[in-house]
Amino acid sequence: MKLPSDADRSGRDLGEEELKRLGEVIESGTLTSTKGTAVKQFEARFAERWGVGFCRATASGTAAVHTAVAAVDPEPGDEIVTTPITDFGAISPILYQTAVPVFADVDPTTWNVTAETLAARIGPRTRALVVTHLFGNPCEMDGILALAERHGLPVIEDAAQAYGAEWDGRPAGALGDVGCFSLQQGKHMTTGEGGVVVARNPAFERRLRLFVDKAWGYGDPRPDHDFLALNYRMSELQGAVALAQLEKLEVLVERRIRAARGLAERIAGIDGVHAPAGHARARHAYWKFPLRIDARAVAGGVDGFSTRLRERGIASAPRYVEKPAFLLRCFRERNTFGGSGFPFEGPHRAGLPPVVYDPDDYPGALEGLAHLVVLPINEFYEDAHLDHLARCIREAAEGREGTGG
Ligand SMILES: Cc1ncc(COP(=O)(O)O)c(C=O)c1O
Repeated sequence: MKLPSDADRSGRDLGEEELKRLGEVIESGTLTSTKGTAVKQFEARFAERWGVGFCRATASGTAAVHTAVAAVDPEPGDEIVTTPITDFGAISPILYQTAVPVFADVDPTTWNVTAETLAARIGPRTRALVVTHLFGNPCEMDGILALAERHGLPVIEDAAQAYGAEWDGRPAGALGDVGCFSLQQGKHMTTGEGGVVVARNPAFERRLRLFVDKAWGYGDPRPDHDFLALNYRMSELQGAVALAQLEKLEVLVERRIRAARGLAERIAGIDGVHAPAGHARARHAYWKFPLRIDARAVAGGVDGFSTRLRERGIASAPRYVEKPAFLLRCFRERNTFGGSGFPFEGPHRAGLPPVVYDPDDYPGALEGLAHLVVLPINEFYEDAHLDHLARCIREAAEGREGTGG
């Protein structure tokens, strides 16, 4: 049985509504958001849905995170504390904005940073916290927001994987100061590529708005390019699709949650396999279905289990992104700007201890990844798919080899 995939039509709700809005944009002849209305409408509706005063569409999720970091405006060598288990597009913007990523450890059972792990990394040069709601599971935000307030630090939420997730009934992405989203193919809603940045804190609005558009002060009495910035605008074509996708979001999140609960029920009691456990105060939006695998009960641990799933045609990712960010070559070799080692090294870091990424500092991340197998799930999974997937999980956990397909 082939499971619905978010890589194509089988697992993506793209159709009449998107075509209609795309047709309108094409008919209008205006494809740039600086002149058109689709992106502006999308931004207004997104802001309303998230209950925030500011929203800006961007060219990608990476661009959204870059815009958020640029809004904070770190000095060269300042530190931004974030998670080591995330997409590279959430980390490279920190370096581009001349700040040093400092990684906090994660809770090995949720793979999320916590107030405690973040607190351990805050120092005199910390400029902001970036928290990622991994796999659609919100971080425990009370402690994180209280910590940030105590230290006077802005909180950037990376909600790229967490559309529709909530903490205490409030939407992920609108809990901190600035929230970021991705509209890349595999996200809850998609425009192929694209992103969104929202702000609950009005203090960041102007820099967010300007950074997406070469810092040109549209509407100012005497506009100018105010500061260093890029063109991260979304086009009207993407805006049209985004508008149609946003209208479908609530229904699809509900359907994802139903599918995930259905799968969790079906695999409850399988020795060595643990379904994601949502926090009582959170709404998990299930971007993916991360399993915690106990190698004492499952032959070959995450690798053996994943191989047996793949033999059954199930796409599964042992250890998610394979390794924590600090082990990526970019960080190990300081491959940033020429041979400079910037921003890790240089006079702007004078008097500070050297930046060291020591795996021993990350027992939670290493343990969490060693037990993690990420499975796909989406709103098109029906009972028959869930039955099939649960059967495959059971057989793979019991060590039974598959037949190749
Ligand atoms: C948590 C997280 N942050 C940021 C990004 C970057 O988004 P994009 O791929 O749209 O640039 C992703 C994308 O996969 C992500 O999962």
